[in-house]
Amino acid sequence: MHNPALQACGIDAQYIRVQVPVGRVAEAFRQFAQCGFLGVNITIPHKFEALDAVDVLDPLARQLGAVNTLAIRDGRFYGYNSDGPGFLRSVKEAFGADVKDLRVLVLGAGGGAGRAVAVQSALSGCQKLLLVNRSQAKAEMVAGEIHTLGCCPETKVVPWDDEALRAALANTDLIVNATSLGMKSDDAKLLPADALQARHLVFDMVYRAGGETPLLADARLAGARTVDGLTLLLHQGGISFEHWFDRPAPLEVMRAGLQSAVMQ
Ligand SMILES: NC(=O)c1ccc[n+]([C@@H]2O[C@H](COP(=O)([O-])OP(=O)(O)OC[C@H]3O[C@@H](n4cnc5c(N)ncnc54)[C@H](OP(=O)(O)O)[C@@H]3O)[C@@H](O)[C@H]2O)c1
Repeated sequence: MHNPALQACGIDAQYIRVQVPVGRVAEAFRQFAQCGFLGVNITIPHKFEALDAVDVLDPLARQLGAVNTLAIRDGRFYGYNSDGPGFLRSVKEAFGADVKDLRVLVLGAGGGAGRAVAVQSALSGCQKLLLVNRSQAKAEMVAGEIHTLGCCPETKVVPWDDEALRAALANTDLIVNATSLGMKSDDAKLLPADALQARHLVFDMVYRAGGETPLLADARLAGARTVDGLTLLLHQGGISFEHWFDRPAPLEVMRAGLQSAVMQ
């Protein structure tokens, strides 16, 4: 999506993929600067290491606990997080809703993406925030961080069992899957399917090329509205572009580029 965007904007640059070993993010950033890179997207597992490798950390990236966007300006490294704001834009685009008006349940709230979505939802002033994670202690840590930030007093940890999830889903508008489950059609069910209702908005951060994730298939059968991870991929990319070039991203060009890339 970035190469068509660069071309459409007449920017003489290319977006390429570089593999960096764990523990060498700061060194990689220095080499990128020497090579004339303007910016970088950072993905699993480097988003946390990148926090400590930047010179200037955007306050939102600090709160979300991860850097996925680096801008290199005059040899200095500026770190941002576009996943959180990209999530807000994706909810708006997919459902015409603002997260601040919703009761949000995050599955996988203890992982990197889940934590970012949970903290971003709380910072946006969502009505209620229910955190679920296989290792419950991690969700409790995230809830503690949100309480320290002083936003969304209605933040609670929900145990991952069918009975607790059924009760929680009765008080939820937006369900977010931020676990790594869903890439394969036979991945374990995340929720009891009978707890999904037509009024639910279901956001799967996972994208499955050539098919629906199991969660979205269940949600569709229940009559719920759904969106998959491709919309988030687009919007976080658009926000990264805005950080790098200080101009609006050509979102429709990027959307077309992304769609043609995933069809291949
Ligand atoms: N669409 C996008 O643009 C976008 C952006 C970011 C991330 N993502 C997607 O979001 C997902 C999570 O990414 P991440 O960076 O947060 O990974 P991560 O930090 O490794 O977190 C993985 C999460 O999944 C949970 N999990 C893993 N296996 C599980 C299982 N068998 N049962 C229940 N829970 C399980 C983990 O729970 P424990 O804590 O108990 O291990 C943890 O909460 C990935 O699929 C990634 O592709 C998409």
